[in-house]
Order: sequence, then structure tokens, then C-alpha cells
Amino acid sequence: MIVAGSASVLPGTRVQLRPAAADDARRIFAWYNDPEIVAPYDRFSVDTFEEFERSLREAPGDPNSLAPRFVVALRDGDAPIGVVGHYVPHPVLETVDVWYVIGDRRARRKGYGTEAVTLLVQHLFASTPFPRVGATVDVENRASLLLLERVGFQREGVLRSALFHHARWHDIAVYGLIRDDWATRHPTV
Ligand SMILES: CC(C)(COP(=O)(O)OP(=O)(O)OC[C@H]1O[C@@H](n2cnc3c(N)ncnc32)[C@H](O)[C@@H]1OP(=O)(O)O)[C@@H](O)C(=O)NCCC(=O)NCCS
Repeated sequence: MIVAGSASVLPGTRVQLRPAAADDARRIFAWYNDPEIVAPYDRFSVDTFEEFERSLREAPGDPNSLAPRFVVALRDGDAPIGVVGHYVPHPVLETVDVWYVIGDRRARRKGYGTEAVTLLVQHLFASTPFPRVGATVDVENRASLLLLERVGFQREGVLRSALFHHARWHDIAVYGLIRDDWATRHPTV
């Protein structure tokens, strides 16, 4: 199953998801280089700028890309405040997991992350036949856990000692959102 690309702009109330432009790369790369911004609860690795720029450019045509699928920007401003994407759809199960970063620290705790993930989930349900969108999150990542619950995800369980970062193993919570539940919450989809 190939997840649809990200050629269009997805407008929300206060934020929009838009395709990455060439001059976004430096700013997003700066976030990717700061482990305290992108990965306080995750593994951290850095690409060269050239590799990063190429992966950003090629993402729309590569269904397996882990690069950002959309830039998060405010409705009334074009500058990126974050990025969102999704992992490769599961090879057997009918599900795809989302990921998200609000890289601009000044834009955090204003509900923008919640709105950006809502738009991404809406896009995935509209552009794929998957009955489920998932997410995995370190059980200590309070902001991310609250965001998922705010969007409507339900906690389905915990994978114990599933991710090694910051010198120890971490438990990872599994979250899921079912298309039928989404349609009830958002009858226009
Ligand atoms: C997780 C992240 C995307 C949240 O973005 P955000 O725009 O600040 O989130 P929101 O403003 O929509 O807030 C969502 C909820 O989390 C809460 N929250 C946000 N930051 C928080 C923090 N640092 N500590 C505790 N709660 C926090 C908000 O109060 C809100 O809860 P509420 O709806 O009950 O009030 C952002 O913190 C981030 O980019 N973190 C680093 C990358 C990351 O961890 N990504 C997720 C990997 S699974």
C-alpha cells in the first residue's frame, strides 16, 4: 500500500500543512541537529545537510521516505514551525504510524501540534483505505501523550524496553485511532 503524497496544502484553523520548499531545508535541518528539539525522548542521529536536503526533496516521490511529508506553518505566516510525517506502512497489517515535531520552541504549548496531527490524520484517512492510524511514543513523553489523546488516539498497550536512547531502554506506548471513531468525531471526512 502506497500512502498518497503531499503535493497539496492542508488548511486548518490556525495552522496549515504544506509541502516543503527548498528554502525550508536550512531551518528544518537546524532542528534536526538539536537533540533537545527533535529527540529528547528518542534516538538521535544526524545526516549531512546535503543528505537531508536530498531526502526532503525526494520524499514526495518516495513512499518509503522517513523525511518530513509536510511543513507545519501558521495560517497567517509561511515560516515553518514544525514538520510531520509518517512511517512506512506496516508490511502486513493495514496501518500506518504518524510522527510530528514542533521545532520552533516559541510555538509549543499553543495547540499547534495537536492541530497539525489532526490535519495529518485526516489526510491519511482521506487518501488511504487504512482502517487505523497509529503512533508510538515514549511513556515519559508527556507532551506527546497528551497531544495524541487530544487528537483522539486511544492507548492500546505498552511495548516494554523497546527503544534505546539516552543510555537506557525505554518503554513505548502504542496508540491507535480507528477510522469509524474518527468519522464520528469529524463527520465531514
Ligand atoms: C510533542 C510536541 C509535538 C507537542 O507539540 P505542541 O504544539 O507543544 O503540543 P500542543 O500545544 O498541541 O499540546 C498538546 C498537549 O500537551 C501538553 N503539553 C505540551 N507541551 C508540554 C510539556 N512540555 N509538558 C507537559 N505537557 C505539555 C499541552 O498542554 C496539551 O495538553 P492539553 O491539551 O491537556 O492542554 C512537541 O513538544 C515536540 O515537538 N516535542 C519534541 C518532538 C517529539 O517528542 N515528538 C513526538 C515523538 S512521539
